[in-house]
Amino acid sequence: MSSFRNSTVYQIYIKSYCDSNGDGIGDLNGIRSKLDYLQSLGIDYVWITPFFKSPMNDNGYDIADYFSVNPMFGTMDDAEALIKEANEHGIGLMFDMVFNHTSTDHEWFQKALAGDPKYMDYYIFRDPVDGHAPTNWVSKFGGNAWEYVPALGKYYLHLFDVSQADLNWENPAVREELKNVIRFWKEKGVRGFRFDVVNLISKPDVLEDDFIGDGRRFYTDGPRIHQHIKELVNDTGIADMMTVGEMSSTSLDNCLRYANPIEKELKMVFSFHHLKVDYKGGEKWALMDPDFKALRDLFCKWQEGMQAGGAWNALFWCNHDQPRAVSRFGDDRNYWKESAKMLAVLIHMMRGTPYIYQGEEIGMTNAGYTSIDQYQDVESTNYFSILCGEGKTPEEALHIIGERSRDNGRTPMQWDSSEQAGFTTGTPWLSIPANHTYINVETEEKDEDSILAFYKKLVQLRKDMEIIADGDIRFLETCTPDVIAYERTLGDEKLSVYCNLKGTELAADGMPEGEILVCNYGQAGAKGVLRPFEARVIKA
Ligand code: GLC
Ligand code: CA
Repeated sequence: MSSFRNSTVYQIYIKSYCDSNGDGIGDLNGIRSKLDYLQSLGIDYVWITPFFKSPMNDNGYDIADYFSVNPMFGTMDDAEALIKEANEHGIGLMFDMVFNHTSTDHEWFQKALAGDPKYMDYYIFRDPVDGHAPTNWVSKFGGNAWEYVPALGKYYLHLFDVSQADLNWENPAVREELKNVIRFWKEKGVRGFRFDVVNLISKPDVLEDDFIGDGRRFYTDGPRIHQHIKELVNDTGIADMMTVGEMSSTSLDNCLRYANPIEKELKMVFSFHHLKVDYKGGEKWALMDPDFKALRDLFCKWQEGMQAGGAWNALFWCNHDQPRAVSRFGDDRNYWKESAKMLAVLIHMMRGTPYIYQGEEIGMTNAGYTSIDQYQDVESTNYFSILCGEGKTPEEALHIIGERSRDNGRTPMQWDSSEQAGFTTGTPWLSIPANHTYINVETEEKDEDSILAFYKKLVQLRKDMEIIADGDIRFLETCTPDVIAYERTLGDEKLSVYCNLKGTELAADGMPEGEILVCNYGQAGAKGVLRPFEARVIKA
């Protein structure tokens, strides 16, 4: 397996990838049937979202048993076969470790609920304060983050859904239990791990109300976070494996430690600031057009900042929690192909490890649903009610959900143009977008100019060219904020990357001429001008 620096990771949201038995739900054997496809992409690792035992209130991010496979997704034999066959295809599997919380169905929580003091200390239980919740913290899925248990006379903390109880990482027994989870899957041949919202695990000793925010400033990158990660990594012997931490609302200073080889924490981090440039006033449920100046400045800050501190970024636009990039930052109607390819260039030429989220490689778009009943995600349905409660009309609320829902990224993978897109022979758990008739793997595999072919090229270039994997990065000034430009250098070599984020022609003063390594238009363009959504990578 090659170094993570020239690797590309592919993310699979199992429920929506490929259904092998016609029940409408993607599964482990479905993934097995697509290993040749995954190999043809040239990717090195596949991160699979959780498929462990779960009541599925948050689609598997609510784990009831870390050591067993949810029957909905298959059996332990299927999981073992998948690991083995993936390795034979030159693909390392990364499993998703959800360690900030468990499902309230987990045996530990059930014992806690029954009043067993040992297990109550596995979670964060607190007495009421003046007859109400211990703090005013807000759950990430809406509402107060504490739930009262009358039989115990106490509240428990849930930063996410009420059925996802936060674990008490200050209890060494909890840390040992979680290390065993890693050891178990590592033994089975898994090659890496993704750690879910891992920077939220260290809560302060004293929990207090937040009068200026939702509470996140108290528990994000919390007091003992680096110590906990180091211990977990060291004691399970995964320092040399592929690891990535999902860092919610984090800071550059903390990421310089999380993803710095000297610290022996993680190989790389996901941070999300660049995916909030279309949040009006920082609010996910308030719409505005993307601010490309802010996007450019964030990329510059994180790329140059992580480089200066010797740390490593994960590069991504999409995942199972985000709307589709081509609908959000590109133009999925008039410049579907051009803008999807431009967005790919913009991050794949950066310093870091690119992640491709299933369907991104064929330019899949937002869901385009017309009724709230089509949505399944707990966050979307919660916020639909919250938005209506705040006085929005159902149409306005539906429009906002249509732009921001996590289900936009969760629609079934579009394999072909048939009725259920080749995803299932049954009824899919989430409706399939109408555009699968032309946006699908089968069609794009036959087309040399497809988005799919373009992604394959970018993945290969990172392997072939040391400058892409290991070169330095420096952001360039441009005459308009809608053109983002940077250069990569290694010794005497240089690559200049210019991307037009708009659907109009724009001047790109200072753009060098030279051999074009990558471009999303067939014909050569004019000097100093970028066509709509054009991306040009120039060797100069
Ligand atoms: C992460 C996951 C998301 C999940 C949340 C709680 O953000 O990516 O899907 O809902 O953690 O586990
Ligand atoms: Ca199935």
